[in-house]
Amino acid sequence: MKFFLDTAVVDEIREGVSYGLVDGVTTNPSLIAKSGRDFREVIAEICTLVDGPISAEVVSTDAEGMLSEGRALAKIHDNIVVKVPMIAEGLKATRRFAAEGIKTNVTLIFSPSQALLAAKAGASFVSPFVGRLDDISHVGMGLVEEILDIFGNYDIDAEVIVASIRNPLHVVDAARMGAHIGTMPLGVMKQLMRHPLTDIGLQQFLKDWESVPKR
Ligand code: E4P
Repeated sequence: MKFFLDTAVVDEIREGVSYGLVDGVTTNPSLIAKSGRDFREVIAEICTLVDGPISAEVVSTDAEGMLSEGRALAKIHDNIVVKVPMIAEGLKATRRFAAEGIKTNVTLIFSPSQALLAAKAGASFVSPFVGRLDDISHVGMGLVEEILDIFGNYDIDAEVIVASIRNPLHVVDAARMGAHIGTMPLGVMKQLMRHPLTDIGLQQFLKDWESVPKR
């Protein structure tokens, strides 16, 4: 399973990279706003930090606008993946991007039918938002299971990015289901490493080591 960082904050990306855990990065307009940086500039910098798919999202809501934004984004770096919202105009744009050899990540997916349509349009990645479904009392990971079932039935090539991850269990469940990618905040990536018994065990080892005679 590949791990993507879901952030546009370069210090967070540098930290994730230092652990050797970052296979790609996803951003969205809210994350770019939170970074306080110029969109193209921060995306270009992220591409120098991570050698993997870097999602940069369009903000137009018509296909022509998405195409012109996406083509410009794709010129920033070969690893750019144009993130397109799961709306009818987004599907039109996705199909055209695929024909032009530009990779897309269809985002804001909340149902299996949306994922199927995105894949049929030629999306390289589809992003079901599990945390936002959990927030409204739907089981987000259930959606991932349904999408993986459908994609498996037809050998669909689009990769499933489990998005809107809020906690380590989302990542573990995604891995158990065989999802291709999980995109997560740095905090969740760090939570995956931790266990209180590891800390307690290490403290004890270090304490006991003090009583070992040293030459
Ligand atoms: C995914 O690509 C999105 O950027 C992201 O995972 C959304 O997460 P949120 O629901 O925590 O905003």
